Amino acid sequence: MKNNMIVLGCQWGDEGKGKIVDLLAAKSDIIARFQGGANAGHTIVVGDVKYVLHLIPSGIIHPGKSCYIGNGVVLDPWGFLEELDFLKSKGIDYAGRLWISPATNMVMPYHKLIDAVQEKNRGTKSIGTTMRGIGPTYIDKVARNGIRVIDLFNPDRLKKRLEFQKTIKAQYLTGSEDERADLELTFNKLMDLVDIFKPLVADVSLALYNANKEGKTILFEGAQGTLLDVDLGTYPFATSSNTTVGGALTGLGVGPHMINEVVGVIKAYTTRVGAGPFPTELVDDIGEKIRHQGDEYGATTGRPRRCGWLDLVALRHAIRINGVDTIAVTKLDVLDCLDEIKVCTSYIINGITMNEVPLDLSEFAHAKPVYKTLPGWEVSSTGKTAFDELGENARNYLKYVADDLDVKIRIISTGPRREDTIMM
Ligand code: GDP
Ligand code: IMO
Ligand code: MG
Repeated sequence: MKNNMIVLGCQWGDEGKGKIVDLLAAKSDIIARFQGGANAGHTIVVGDVKYVLHLIPSGIIHPGKSCYIGNGVVLDPWGFLEELDFLKSKGIDYAGRLWISPATNMVMPYHKLIDAVQEKNRGTKSIGTTMRGIGPTYIDKVARNGIRVIDLFNPDRLKKRLEFQKTIKAQYLTGSEDERADLELTFNKLMDLVDIFKPLVADVSLALYNANKEGKTILFEGAQGTLLDVDLGTYPFATSSNTTVGGALTGLGVGPHMINEVVGVIKAYTTRVGAGPFPTELVDDIGEKIRHQGDEYGATTGRPRRCGWLDLVALRHAIRINGVDTIAVTKLDVLDCLDEIKVCTSYIINGITMNEVPLDLSEFAHAKPVYKTLPGWEVSSTGKTAFDELGENARNYLKYVADDLDVKIRIISTGPRREDTIMM
């Protein structure tokens, strides 16, 4: 039976979605990205080759699969070209199997400039954005001042829309010597893109609808993670899009019946890049050990990721919001290095025990985790390919998590490579 899956992050991003999408793409015909932009960094390791993709769906690595970028994405057109060059350099032929919605908003150079200025203005309250211009582009989209891919093909309109930015962004653009504030330069650079983008534009919503009707299998690829969702995450320490399941529907123009299974990706511990509350954060030797063992440095910015224990309270929130059916647990091997492993089962906030994420962020910031301690495993899990090959304690850890969350485990990842995988 056909099974269209959506792969979503259940934590603060970098759960290993790229690897999971790559695995599931093998059995899909189409892979579609629905939100976020080049703030994402999705890593896939095939043999000795490591691919880090920011905008292009992770399915592109598989020959013959069609990949779609939906209207919910914010596309940096020059970043996109760099990614195409990267794929070319790796011998990946994407011709005729990569499509972009004409309604996709584009990240303009001035959006990156504004991202930097706004972060500076936030001072000690800065979000720690990826500086990819994501927030300012989504702001323009919602304010109906955005520049969309379709605008490339109507230069007069594009010019007017760019000129209008002078009026509404005078605070950032007037008198600025930064090249990114130069709208004429931006216009000229955009004109160079017209012929490259023309053959890539397609009605993504219609294409997916027809493909689904024809019985093709679609895989939806999420970026970031549930706790970075602009509505349901740790706002304002969040990204600017809906990273959760609803984002796929609006970000591609598809109906809910097109998604048959929600796969939540969960790292066996927790990481976060950028600022914001993180109750189970470990600012000690164990956190350092996990960072080292898990090579926890951002795939997009190279920043060290904050590391901590698995947080079931935060995960329950993610499972509920997304209606997660199955989970993919990644980086189990990283915990091989520890004698005992903690899991946060509830928070204590102002003396009260809470099993759910508090709605008030300032409460979340003060949450004291209550831990259950589980023993580390007797046998290494690195590179294991069958559940029975894992140590009993590792199996118990996974069962404990799946039972608490009331979900089935679909995949266990035991290393970065494709083959370091247990399919359940
Ligand atoms: P994404 O943004 O969710 O796609 O995740 P990232 O690619 O940013 O970060 C995940 C990192 O962990 C990448 O470097 C992956 O190669 C790596 N990775 C994925 N799964 C595993 C695993 O099971 N074990 C180990 N050790 N590394 C993994
Ligand atoms: P993937 O898809 C981890 C974080 C940033 C910052 C906040 C807002 O690889 O999991 P933004 O640039 O979006 O305005 O930054 O969100 N962030 C991510 N953290 N993984 C990501 O993507 C992220 N994309 C954004 O670090 O805290
Ligand atoms: Mg990432």
